Amino acid sequence: MAPHHEPVLASTRTELAALLADARRDDRQIGFVPTMGALHEGHASLMRVARKHVGDGPVVVSIFVNPMQFGSGEDLDRYPRTLDADLVICGEEGVDVVFAPSVEEMYPHGVPASDREPDGVTVVPAPALADILEGEVRPGHFRGVLTVVAKLFGLVRPDVAVFGQKDYQQLALIRRMAEDLCMGVEVIGAETRRDPDGLAMSSRNRYLSPEEREHALSLSRALRRAQATGFEGADHALAAARAELREAHGVDLDYLVITAADLGRLPDEVLPGTEGRILIAARVGSTRLIDNLPITLGNKGDN
Ligand code: PAF
Repeated sequence: MAPHHEPVLASTRTELAALLADARRDDRQIGFVPTMGALHEGHASLMRVARKHVGDGPVVVSIFVNPMQFGSGEDLDRYPRTLDADLVICGEEGVDVVFAPSVEEMYPHGVPASDREPDGVTVVPAPALADILEGEVRPGHFRGVLTVVAKLFGLVRPDVAVFGQKDYQQLALIRRMAEDLCMGVEVIGAETRRDPDGLAMSSRNRYLSPEEREHALSLSRALRRAQATGFEGADHALAAARAELREAHGVDLDYLVITAADLGRLPDEVLPGTEGRILIAARVGSTRLIDNLPITLGNKGDN
């Protein structure tokens, strides 16, 4: 772990620019970890990945609960805001700058609605990949994510930006945006961190009651069971995962799918050794959780 030091807190664009001016002048690499706060070990691991890439260059963490990526009826108001505790974690990880802007600072012309074109405000429209899975359940979500990440990239101008693989579709879309819009940022996907019992770390886990947390374990168990039977083909793997979920209580499934590693459709004939992804989303009580794992597929002619 990097020695503890106080990160400098910037809440305006001007402060952020001043804090990064030296690094830019000295041509030091800038590493960036965008977050919505409520930080945990999963985020800390992203900060370590960023540090590894930039050496003595600054690591910047943004903490901003982005209203544009929440639909009506979602948890924008109750999303945990824990800035003091977040700063301690950033300090422990040797983060140099924490950028925690207000909504007005990020959206001076007003927050565009996630579901329609705003008046005279530029947004990043998401490609078709944003319409499946999470996008199907949360219309407009990725438009909000891409817009805020594009703005943050513009403000921080990082060399590398690190995102968790837990939000696998988000990672794919951000990678795509950075490439398609020639943003000059290397987007790195870091492995999902899990509690010892397998639950993928998430800021939303703190909503779970002890009983719900127990129920939530069936998500990662289902993924692991599928992963272990992937060699028998996607259908077998999905059946194994569904069998696990049938034994679970209080889990309301949104989707359970196996896709190609790039989230595309699997071909009808899957070659043995094909790398795919199994993804799950479910509501446990009132908390929506997502998780995913890589899966190596065999081909017994059942795909
Ligand atoms: O993954 C998140 O925490 C958010 O979607 C992100 C990337 C910080 C954009 O608000």
